[in-house]
Amino acid sequence: MKKGFFITLEGIEGAGKSTMVNFVENSLIKAGHDVVKTREPGGTKIGEQIREILLNNENNKLTSDTELLLIFAARSQHMKEIIMPALSSGKTILCDRFTDASYAYQGGGRGIDASRINLLEKWVQSDFRPNLTLLFDLDVSVGMERTKKRSKADRFEQEKSIFFEKVRTCYLKRAEDEADRFRIINSELPLQKVKDEIAAVLKEIK
Ligand code: TMP
Repeated sequence: MKKGFFITLEGIEGAGKSTMVNFVENSLIKAGHDVVKTREPGGTKIGEQIREILLNNENNKLTSDTELLLIFAARSQHMKEIIMPALSSGKTILCDRFTDASYAYQGGGRGIDASRINLLEKWVQSDFRPNLTLLFDLDVSVGMERTKKRSKADRFEQEKSIFFEKVRTCYLKRAEDEADRFRIINSELPLQKVKDEIAAVLKEIK
């Protein structure tokens, strides 16, 4: 079994990532991994406070640059407080979103140049990257239909479909460019089939 492994989950709104994170966690535990489940933005007390600012849909004056900088501030805290210590002690980290989301949402969605995101990535993470990224992919209209059924939309969820189309395109491009790290999970399939796909991917790291 691989030690000190870093797995991230990504996808647009409504891709079922939040449901699947528990399935992935349980599968890893069954396979003998010592799992730390965490999320971004957030994962630390300070990061969770930053998350509240980012998701609060009353913060309509928040600029794209402030959004990006806050996300990387939370990430820096997360790296030092949780991720690095856990990896050093041989744990498997399961993180609900990471830097691919910054490229997809702030880069693709908001239109911030990738070179700026890259600058912050280097600052905060040096050359640290996930070992494996599961990208939960589905049609934007299907995803939006699913999120409509939930309670009040947060600051990101209230964006229009064109925003999520750009986010999705960016995710898929990154998955294509870094095919060794990414595995795309078709989230339009019935739940059991999605679980089967995940199980097949996780077998690779046992
Ligand atoms: P969640 O829906 O997975 O809980 O994530 C919260 C929101 O944060 C989600 O709409 C995407 C957004 N986000 C970014 O825009 N950039 C990032 O780098 C991260 C980690 C999340």
